[in-house]
Amino acid sequence: MAAKKHSHKKSYYNDIALRLGHKLFGVEHLHYGYFEKGKKPTLQTLPSAQDAYVRNLLKYIPAGVKRVFDVGCGTGGVATQLVKKKFDVTCLAPDPYLIEKTLENTGGKVATITDLYENLDPATAGLAPFDMVLMSESCQYIKVEEGWKQSSAFLKPKGHVLVADFFRIKELDRPGLSKSGHPLEYFLQEAANHGFKLKKKVDITKFVAPTMDLYQETITEKIFPVFEGIFEIVQRRYPFIYKILGWMFGKKIRKLHVKYSNQGSEIFSQYKAYMVLLFQKA
Ligand SMILES: C[S@@+](CC[C@H](N)C(=O)[O-])C[C@H]1O[C@@H](n2cnc3c(N)ncnc32)[C@H](O)[C@@H]1O
Repeated sequence: MAAKKHSHKKSYYNDIALRLGHKLFGVEHLHYGYFEKGKKPTLQTLPSAQDAYVRNLLKYIPAGVKRVFDVGCGTGGVATQLVKKKFDVTCLAPDPYLIEKTLENTGGKVATITDLYENLDPATAGLAPFDMVLMSESCQYIKVEEGWKQSSAFLKPKGHVLVADFFRIKELDRPGLSKSGHPLEYFLQEAANHGFKLKKKVDITKFVAPTMDLYQETITEKIFPVFEGIFEIVQRRYPFIYKILGWMFGKKIRKLHVKYSNQGSEIFSQYKAYMVLLFQKA
C-alpha cells in the first residue's frame, strides 16, 4: 500500500497568515515575543521580545548537540542564530516562500526541505540521523502521533526533541475560544508512548502571553476597521452587492468578531500554557 501523504491544504492557509504577518509588521520571527519582567509589550518592542524568545530557547539545547533538524523553521529566524553558534542545521517548512526566506536569512548556510514533517519518509529522505529535533512554535501544526514517530526515526539513540509552543490545559467550555494547540497531557502521554523521556518542563506563559494582547489589539483595532471602511464604501456605492455580501458573509464576520475578542492574554492564560519541553529518546 502506498504511504499516506498529508495534504498541504490546512498548513497552506496557516502559512498565508504567517506570511501576511511577516510582510505587514516586518517581524523577522514568526513566534511569540518573550517579554522579560518590566518590558512593556508594544508592536515596537515585539522584535526585541522575539529575539529574547530565541535566546531563552537556545539555553535549553543540551551539551553535545551538533546536528539540528529545525522542523517548521518559519523565516529561519531561529536557524540564523543556530548557524551563528556553529550548529549544523537542516530546516523544513511546507511553504516555498518561507524556505526561500530561510535561505536568504541564513546566507544559504542550512540545508532545506519543503514539505510537511508528516510526509517525509525516513528511509528515503537521505538525512543522516540528527542529535536534536527542534520545534519552535511549530509543534501545534504537526499531528501528534505522526510527529513523535518521525522524530523517533530521524534521531540518533539518546537524541533530543526541544519544543517551545502553547498547549491546551483546560477544556474549551464556551464558544469563540481558540482551538489551537495540542492538549498538553495527551502530547506528554504520546511522547512517553513513543519512548521519549521528559527531561525539562518549563512554563513560560507569563512571559509570552502579552503577545496575545498585541495580536488581539492589532486585529480588532487595526485590521477590522480597514475592512469596515471597505464595507462602508461598498454599502454606499453598491447597496445591492453589499446586501449579497452581508447575506453570504455576515454570520462568518460576526463569528470572527467573537473569536478575536477572545484572544487576549487573560483568556489565553486560562486555557493555554506556553511550554518549553525537552525530551530524550531512549
Ligand atoms: C509559527 S511558525 C514558527 C516558525 C519558527 N519555528 C519560529 O520559531 O519563528 C510555524 C511553522 O510551522 C510550519 N508548519 C506548519 N505545518 C507544518 C507541518 N505539518 N510540518 C512541518 N512544518 C509545518 C509553518 O510553515 C511555519 O514555518
